[in-house]
Amino acid sequence: MPLPASAIPAPPQENETAEAVHENREMLALLARRRSTKVGHLIEPGPSDEQVNALLRLAARVPDHGKLGPWRFVIIAGEARARAGEALAGVIAKDERVDESRLATARGLLLRAPVCVMVVSSAAPHPKIPEWEQQLSSGAACYGLLLAAHAMGFAGCWLTEWPTYDARARAALNLKEHERIAGFVYLGTPSVQATERFRADLASRVSRF
Ligand SMILES: Cc1cc2nc3c(=O)[nH]c(=O)nc-3n(C[C@H](O)[C@H](O)[C@H](O)COP(=O)(O)O)c2cc1C
Repeated sequence: MPLPASAIPAPPQENETAEAVHENREMLALLARRRSTKVGHLIEPGPSDEQVNALLRLAARVPDHGKLGPWRFVIIAGEARARAGEALAGVIAKDERVDESRLATARGLLLRAPVCVMVVSSAAPHPKIPEWEQQLSSGAACYGLLLAAHAMGFAGCWLTEWPTYDARARAALNLKEHERIAGFVYLGTPSVQATERFRADLASRVSRF
């Protein structure tokens, strides 16, 4: 059973002592065993509006050099999923090789899961903070959102897919020219249990300097 939004403790106020270190076996177990769920296996119920808002408060507590908040979250849930899909279909409608099947796929893209959060990187040139670091913060926000959703009892996956790399699609989803999509984080209840996937060999990727 997913946990209610009220299960999440209030965040500390600015300058209040934070529980910076918090030994937690369940958190370690989650990190050790968590898996994404295929978007096609995400069914109702998804997180409620209140749960999504609570998840975003956690996702936004992300390392962020310069405290710029170089990201924003766009919730695509309920009937907005069809509207977003329609906007994407409109983008490819006049393409040379478009056919009804591609249009239907675009229309249904956001309908594959109960809730989608589009994480937008609004990284921009800054006198002190490199854009690269701002973009990394967006990626961390995506993972934070996924982890928080898993800890709340929902399944999810982080996808980019073609709209991320199509300037027309980004405009149709109301992104500004300089903004980029860090990911579409789809959330719902798993219809099947995920199984473990291949993991990159760690030993060959760890060294000591
Ligand atoms: C930035 C980013 C973008 C991704 N985009 C896609 C995608 O478009 N399509 C896809 O099938 N998987 C994509 N993935 C991979 C899925 O998230 C994949 O299911 C996941 O990495 C599985 O790992 P996990 O079970 O450890 O979460 C992406 C991953 C990342 C980090």
